[in-house]
Parts: sequence; structure tokens; C-alpha cells
Amino acid sequence: MSDWFIRPFETFEDHVQSLRVQRAIWSNDLPVPPHISLAIVRRGGVALGAFTAQGEMIGCVLSFLGWSRYGLCHHSHFAAVVEGWRDKGIGEALKQAQRRAVLAQGIRLITWTYDPLQARNARLNIGKLRAICRTYIRDAYGPDPSGLPTDRFEVEWWLDEDPRRPGLTMEIPIPLNFQALRESNPEQALSLRMRARQQFEQAFAEGFVVTDFAVRSDQGVYTLTQFDAPNKSTGANQPEG
Ligand SMILES: CC(C)(COP(=O)(O)OP(=O)(O)OC[C@H]1O[C@@H](n2cnc3c(N)ncnc32)[C@H](O)[C@@H]1OP(=O)(O)O)[C@@H](O)C(=O)NCCC(=O)NCCS
Repeated sequence: MSDWFIRPFETFEDHVQSLRVQRAIWSNDLPVPPHISLAIVRRGGVALGAFTAQGEMIGCVLSFLGWSRYGLCHHSHFAAVVEGWRDKGIGEALKQAQRRAVLAQGIRLITWTYDPLQARNARLNIGKLRAICRTYIRDAYGPDPSGLPTDRFEVEWWLDEDPRRPGLTMEIPIPLNFQALRESNPEQALSLRMRARQQFEQAFAEGFVVTDFAVRSDQGVYTLTQFDAPNKSTGANQPEG
């Protein structure tokens, strides 16, 4: 039996706890304030928390209703699990609960962004949840405090079908320790960022779609499959959402 459980936010205090979780993880960024997340939920957004038996929130996820090139969707603004509780399946359980809540609204697609060089996120988003990506956003939030461009994948999580089709495949490897590299060797981190940007933008322009991610010995490997028409769906420099 696990020592945590997941439930929707029920009280204003849950939104306040979410603020504490966000601050613990993204200390440099402005968190979503409780009155905003409450308003989002009151108009169809989904906010779920992972709690200990003592009622302490150790993770949360928030999505809002959005419009995409495919029509109505949810956009997941953040998913977070505090350090010390990671790698226990809580992130996946939060996302699966989000999936059920969004499907219950009759909506079939959730989008969100993440840094394609973060292997843990890639493992969760692409490998475990089976989201796909064909949209690359350059420097989505402006350079981070170290000057590194905040490039992001915008993923599509199709909730009631698997959009994967057979096709030519290619692989793009990434390091498993990009987070540590950013701190210890910013120059190498920048050069990895630029190389990945060039590789993914070119692949997306040729109709390749990110369809899988696996950890192989000392690196992470994205698999891309060519099933989109070339140049049709590239998202370089598109706004999010
Ligand atoms: C991303 C996040 C929500 C995942 O939560 P989590 O509870 O650790 O997720 P899970 O345990 O379900 O899955 C993590 C997977 O990554 C794997 N993993 C951990 N470190 C890894 C690494 N360096 N490289 C590759 N995979 C890694 C874990 O082994 C696990 O896979 P497994 O179940 O096959 O063993 C959490 O790490 C987090 O809050 N990160 C900081 C905030 C963030 O980046 N949020 C997402 C963007 S908004």
C-alpha cells in the first residue's frame, strides 16, 4: 500500500498548499497564486494534489481549458512532485488522474511544455505516458538566470487514441544529467541546447514526430517516426497553447 494518495483540490487551503509546492520547486519563478488557480478550477480547470496520510501536499498538477490547432483541449500548466518523493510513480499517477478528469469532460487532448533535455521529464512524458511531440518552441520564457535559452517541447497527449503510425524512424540522444551540467558547465549546456535545437527543428520540419524515449546505459534516446507531411506541423517559434 502506498503512503500517499491523490485527490482533487477541495478547499482554498489546497490552493495555498500548491503555492508552497511550486515555491519549493521553482524558487526563481512566479507561482500561480491561490485565487487564480481557484478561478481556473471553477471554470473547468483541473487541479489535483498528491497528499501524505498526514494531509501534506507533496505534489500537484494544474491544467486549464485551452484552444489548440486541434480544437478544445486542456493545457497543463505544471506538474510537480517535491524532492524526496520523486521516482515513486507519483508524477505518473497525478497525470493519469488528470487524464481521467479531462476525459470526463469529453475532451481528448492535453498539451504541455517541458525542456527536451530533461531526461526524467522525457521518461515520464514520452516514455511512460506516451505523449508525442512535433512542436519545438525556441526560448519559450526568455533566457534563464544563467543565460540559457528556455527551449521547450510542446507535447500532445491524446487521451483516447494512439496517434503513432508506422514510418521511417530516427534517434536523437540526450544526456541523463543535463540539470547537473547546467550548474557545473554552462558552456557545455549551451552547446547541447543549440545542437538539440538544430536536430529537433530539422527533424520536425521533415515530418518526424517524437514517439518514444528510453534510457540506454548512460544516455537517454528519443525515437522519432516520420508520419507527418514534411513542413506541415513544425512549431518553431510558435506561441504556446
Ligand atoms: C517531473 C516530475 C513531476 C516527475 O515526478 P515523479 O514522481 O518523479 O515521476 P514518476 O516517478 O512517475 O516518473 C519518473 C521516471 O523518471 C525516471 N528518471 C528519474 N531520473 C531520471 C533521469 N535522470 N533520466 C531518465 N529517467 C529518469 C524514473 O526512474 C521514473 O521512471 P520509472 O518509473 O520507469 O522508474 C518531478 O520530477 C518534478 O516535479 N520535477 C520538477 C518540476 C518539473 O520539471 N515539472 C514538469 C514540468 S512542468
